[in-house]
Amino acid sequence: MTLLRDEHLAAAFDHAARSYDTLVAANPGYHAHLRRSARRLGLPRGGEGLRVLDLGCGTGASTAALAEVLPSADITAVDASAGMLERAAGKTWPPNVTFTHAPAERLAEAGVSGPFDAVFAAYLFRNVTDPDAVLRTVRDLLAPGGRLAVHEYTLGGRRTDRAVWTLVCRGVVQPAATLLGDGDLYRHLWRSVVEFDTADRFADRLRENGFDSVRRLPLPGWQTGITHTFTGRRPATTETAR
Ligand SMILES: C[S@@+](CC[C@H](N)C(=O)[O-])C[C@H]1O[C@@H](n2cnc3c(N)ncnc32)[C@H](O)[C@@H]1O
Repeated sequence: MTLLRDEHLAAAFDHAARSYDTLVAANPGYHAHLRRSARRLGLPRGGEGLRVLDLGCGTGASTAALAEVLPSADITAVDASAGMLERAAGKTWPPNVTFTHAPAERLAEAGVSGPFDAVFAAYLFRNVTDPDAVLRTVRDLLAPGGRLAVHEYTLGGRRTDRAVWTLVCRGVVQPAATLLGDGDLYRHLWRSVVEFDTADRFADRLRENGFDSVRRLPLPGWQTGITHTFTGRRPATTETAR
């Protein structure tokens, strides 16, 4: 199968929305790792007075991680799938958390505008058609010095990283997802990771798209060498044209 993109991917997530939380609850470390990546933004404790964007918020797992780490920040959570977003918005949230239905490629049309002090994107970038364009959009939405944390399946490059990923997908995730009627989405999941950047390549992609202080950080558990946090900053000063 080829990768699912744009409206086909949104439709697959719409369908998977009802079982998404159950599947990720069975993934050891899923929520704790999101909180760890949110902390890696390195923002002042509590987040008072900060605006934070959760891009590709899904059913709100990444939003919950942000809200726990930065309880006083204003959090705007955005997703392209109406079904995933409906699940997220149906949960109980403090008033400083809001949800918007929009693809990352058309944020301005949906009224999502910067500057943000930070952007968090968990499991989004290997799903977008043009990650460079979305990274540039994110960079432009950030205030100078604003932070980005990307939490993503990105293989470390060792043969065992790919082998473990394939074992987890073929042995556990795909059989469960097929029973739930979401086989296509979770076959996409496997392929989207093996065809996406390695962790080193993605860190370079951040630099190429104008982020500085880029770091690639590991996560523990079976996700070692498979899931990473990437942090970067919009440079604090913009170079003036000569
Ligand atoms: C694997 S889920 C992750 C959800 C959430 N961030 C989490 O950590 O659980 C990926 C989400 O990205 C959304 N997504 C995929 N492509 C997108 C795009 N181009 N713009 C906005 N959201 C997108 C999907 O609809 C889906 O809800």
